[in-house]
Amino acid sequence: MENIEWQNLGFGYRKTDYNIRCYYRNGEWGELETSSSDIINLHMAATALHYGQEAFEGLKAFKGKDGKIRVFRMDENAKRLQNSCDGILMPQLPVEKFMEAVRMAIKMNKHFVPPYESGAALYIRPLLIGTGPQIGVKAADEFLFIVFVMPVGPYFPEGFKPTDLVIIRGQDRAAPQGTGKYKVGGNYAASMGAGKLAKKKGFSAVLYLDSKEKKYIDECGPANFFGIKNKTYVTPLSESILPSITNKSLMMLAEELGLKVERRKVPYEELATFEEVGACGTAAVISPVKGVYDADNDKWFKYGDQKEAGEWSTKLYNKLRSIQYGDEPDKFKWVE
Ligand code: COI
Repeated sequence: MENIEWQNLGFGYRKTDYNIRCYYRNGEWGELETSSSDIINLHMAATALHYGQEAFEGLKAFKGKDGKIRVFRMDENAKRLQNSCDGILMPQLPVEKFMEAVRMAIKMNKHFVPPYESGAALYIRPLLIGTGPQIGVKAADEFLFIVFVMPVGPYFPEGFKPTDLVIIRGQDRAAPQGTGKYKVGGNYAASMGAGKLAKKKGFSAVLYLDSKEKKYIDECGPANFFGIKNKTYVTPLSESILPSITNKSLMMLAEELGLKVERRKVPYEELATFEEVGACGTAAVISPVKGVYDADNDKWFKYGDQKEAGEWSTKLYNKLRSIQYGDEPDKFKWVE
């Protein structure tokens, strides 16, 4: 294994030793298989390739001070994948099979789990794709489930340092009654153009407003949105955003810390009232936000001292990380 600079890891692909695969054929899932190749052999008419029949997940495993490897809420990822499968006509993978594949992928690549001191983690990427050939727009009859892993650092290069987001009304990520609530590749393809534009202008990501009325905050695409004010954690309720497991966890931790939690529509104007703002997700963990720029109206919303994360975002981040790394008791039974 090559020497890895654990402290300097970004969020990028890296080949590890093994991945886990499971084929769906003749109406049933087969046994889990292992492979040391990161290449798959795919029919050119596979539905994943031209009709985007594919869903994926993202979760992490962490090495504690005690050397133990802990994986965070994988049952939730398994259920979310089932929901995505329902959304785009793919067969559900049993929760237990998902978890077994994740356990195997971690175990077979355990020397790729970053050391505790690095603050990095093993990112686990399960995906389920339509492999059967079709040329009409309909579901495949064969599918492949894969789990691969790699060590990663923070998604946004700033890590736990505040970044800026931008509102661009001219591009939508998902339709109100479309696939925004499923973790399917098409949503991410749809967000690449706006994301590139945002980065070119020096922003970390786009903050999407709801596609129908452009009145309410949706999410950032690769991460959910939260704002904090008057000791209240506020996060959008929307039909078209990904139900983030990190956000769900933060809502519970916010209550633990004595904050009120409101999951509701968040009007655009409310951006002016938050004391702290953040983007959250498995890859992003919490990315504190120091500014949101409304590019259509040339208007800035600024948060905090512009240098460091705010008090509550820091408390939430520390609490989540200490559960994930096993530094504090796992009272919610989130890690295995
Ligand atoms: C994750 O947070 O795991 C995701 O899947 C987001 C992805 C865009 C990196």
